[in-house]
Amino acid sequence: MTGRLAGKVALITGATGGIGQATAELFAREGASLVVTDIAGDTTEKLAASLDTDVLAIRLDVSSPESWSEAIEATRRRFGRLDVLVNIAGVVDWPGIEETTMDGWDRVVAVNQTGTWLGMKTAMPLLRASGNASVINTSSVLGLVGSGAAAAYQATKGAVRLLTKTAAVEYATRGVRVNSVHPGVIATPMIQDLLDEQGDRQPDIVRTPMRRAGSPAEVAPTMLFLASDESSFVTGAELVVDGGLTAH
Ligand SMILES: NC(=O)c1ccc[n+]([C@@H]2O[C@H](COP(=O)([O-])OP(=O)(O)OC[C@H]3O[C@@H](n4cnc5c(N)ncnc54)[C@H](O)[C@@H]3O)[C@@H](O)[C@H]2O)c1
Repeated sequence: MTGRLAGKVALITGATGGIGQATAELFAREGASLVVTDIAGDTTEKLAASLDTDVLAIRLDVSSPESWSEAIEATRRRFGRLDVLVNIAGVVDWPGIEETTMDGWDRVVAVNQTGTWLGMKTAMPLLRASGNASVINTSSVLGLVGSGAAAAYQATKGAVRLLTKTAAVEYATRGVRVNSVHPGVIATPMIQDLLDEQGDRQPDIVRTPMRRAGSPAEVAPTMLFLASDESSFVTGAELVVDGGLTAH
């Protein structure tokens, strides 16, 4: 197969969500073999069936070390290698500092922050063996600037940004690049309620210089660039895909 990811095996978490599915579809079109994973098992199977590439579907809860071990072992058995890890799975909790509950905090930290670290920890031996690997962690504009809400979410997305940078430094001479992507307002199931209620009056859209939400298909090409050899000298970078939201 030809394409910008020809010959590479990529594992994607949160692959049935908005950004995850757009990324899986683009990676398949660019010739990658895929391991598509999500906590939602049925939809992961359906997604895999729709992709025109060599693909393995796995139910993976990113907050579980056992689940990660099983997924990486299944990847090794099926493909014998892993070149790209895209950590996309995420959950949001909107309350601010005082309203955030212990349960809400723990759930968001477990998925967004612990899940990203566990993914890198568990996949790293296979990624190092690739000799030319790329990890892409999904942070957010809310990992760069404060919003005055979503305390747990912001904390985890800030943590993903720095976890990415320290991993980039740790593995810079060991064949693994590590970068973070920071989407702005993207129309996906995660924020669909807000968009349905408020439309273009949604405050973050009003603050976005392009005055609209982005689509998942507008985030996927940045994932592709970081996964491909075109970004061979890019590591520890934070790429915003936000219609200018953090430019002012
Ligand atoms: N949509 C936005 O505006 C926006 C902005 C910035 C960052 N992001 C980030 O982009 C990523 C993708 O979000 P999206 O907008 O596509 O949302 P989404 O809700 O469409 O997708 C999230 C996916 O993660 C999966 N998931 C949740 N918990 C999981 C777990 N424990 N294990 C495995 N999978 C799990 C869900 O099943 C879902 O498929 C997230 O990390 C999110 O924080 C989104």
